[in-house]
Amino acid sequence: MPGAATQRSFEIRTYGCQMNMHDSERLAGLLEDAGYQRVAEGTNPDVVVFNTCAIRENADNRLYGNLGHLLPVKNSHPGMQIAVGGCLAQKDRATITQRAPWVDVVFGTHNIGSLPALLERARVQQQAQVEILESLERFPSVLPASRESPYSAWVAISVGCNNTCTFCIVPSLRGREEDRRPGDILAEIEALASEGVLEITLLGQNVNSYGVGFGDRLAFGKLLRSCGNVAGLERVRFTSPHPRDFTDDVIDAMAETANVMPALHMPLQSGSDAILRAMRRAYRREKYLAILDRVRSAMPEAAITTDIIVGFPGETEKDFADTLDLVRRARFAGAFTFQYSLRPGTPAADMPDQVPPEVVGERYERLAALVAELSLQENQKLVGREVEVLVADGEGRKDNATHRMSGRCRDNRLIHFAPADPAPRPGDVVTTMVTGAAPHYLLADGAPVAVRHTQAGDAWAAQRNRLAGAAESLTETGSVVTARGNNLVLLGMPSRRPTA
Ligand code: 5AD
Ligand code: SF4
Repeated sequence: MPGAATQRSFEIRTYGCQMNMHDSERLAGLLEDAGYQRVAEGTNPDVVVFNTCAIRENADNRLYGNLGHLLPVKNSHPGMQIAVGGCLAQKDRATITQRAPWVDVVFGTHNIGSLPALLERARVQQQAQVEILESLERFPSVLPASRESPYSAWVAISVGCNNTCTFCIVPSLRGREEDRRPGDILAEIEALASEGVLEITLLGQNVNSYGVGFGDRLAFGKLLRSCGNVAGLERVRFTSPHPRDFTDDVIDAMAETANVMPALHMPLQSGSDAILRAMRRAYRREKYLAILDRVRSAMPEAAITTDIIVGFPGETEKDFADTLDLVRRARFAGAFTFQYSLRPGTPAADMPDQVPPEVVGERYERLAALVAELSLQENQKLVGREVEVLVADGEGRKDNATHRMSGRCRDNRLIHFAPADPAPRPGDVVTTMVTGAAPHYLLADGAPVAVRHTQAGDAWAAQRNRLAGAAESLTETGSVVTARGNNLVLLGMPSRRPTA
């Protein structure tokens, strides 16, 4: 094991969904426990870990491109190791070390806890280690975590997915759904809240089927209500629900639990009943719209967002028109839109009538334009309203140039706001008036109405001071370091972006 004297450094590059981001926090915790330290920006890490995603085809190309870029770096950095984990590793296994023989470790989605041991074994044996398991070794929540943010945290409630959506590769890579016990989850949430975390996001591929594994179909709504009793916890979110399993008890729990936020991200995938059937998504457009109606009557201020796939095999212009029609009726506050990507091994990959790429591209543009137009209209409705903002770190790329700060409203809308003087810290809570809107964000250019300093803001400031101290001592030794808030580790960017 690398001890304190050797202190090898690491960097984690994360792709894909929130579950991967959270797994990366576990990987960072494991590596720190094993004596590694996060790399300071501007210096070369001794270990680079890719936590990969396989949901769409371009992820493959990106991984091998990135590995190619790292080869000369590795050649000039003796002892450097490269590890590849996550969904693409689970899918490609030893192919990764065949295509990129300079990779030292390949590990899958079921054994992230093995990373430190595999790195060590690769070093001692001077040979690549490929270890992929077929089912979960240990629930990742038992592993140590090194959390990215002092104010907001992900909490896994289940892993895996028992659905069989015909386009989706996730079930074959993440395995069957396994649910964590509610007491376990609440203990983690209570610990986080006592450290000052204000916001949690409950994570599962299908949160609405949570509990089926231990015989309680109402477990998810009960879990939301229990979150309402956690002292200090201000914001509870979850992702992702499945319309098939979305029951009224969950809507009631959302509406009746003060700290569950009025926001719902519910994947639609298609607005055509024929395509939903071919996707093996066991709900229909009217059922989806009826859920939205019930959510809005219980929580009129709820912001609803979704995922939509364009160009699923067999999608006709009429099917696509049904999607556009549903999008108009649903009044989404935003949507992640995707071009269908053929995933070998999934049922849809072998379906006839694959839609030609130029047709998919053209439909995608029309959908993206409609989504942007409607989300702008929805956002404009908030101009003139007061909103409560949890100040974020790193959410506004242009903040330095615009002298704004960024954060999330209760309904999860992104907002760029004029800060007070002195400026609030990430983790603090600001109340301000919306003065403008764009398709993907709100603006608040007046002075805030109120600024509330929080324990999370104090934790953020303390972390920044520690990093500034570390940066100073490194600068004295001649290295270039830019401490950027609490983001010393490079956690990459999710590949999913809202449509522009
Ligand atoms: N092609 C395109 N998009 C996909 N998604 C999942 N599988 C595919 C695929 N093969 C999208 C779905 C899902 C989101 C996370 O990714 O919309 O909700
Ligand atoms: Fe994939 Fe469907 Fe499971 Fe989501 S619910 S992970 S789209 S199979």
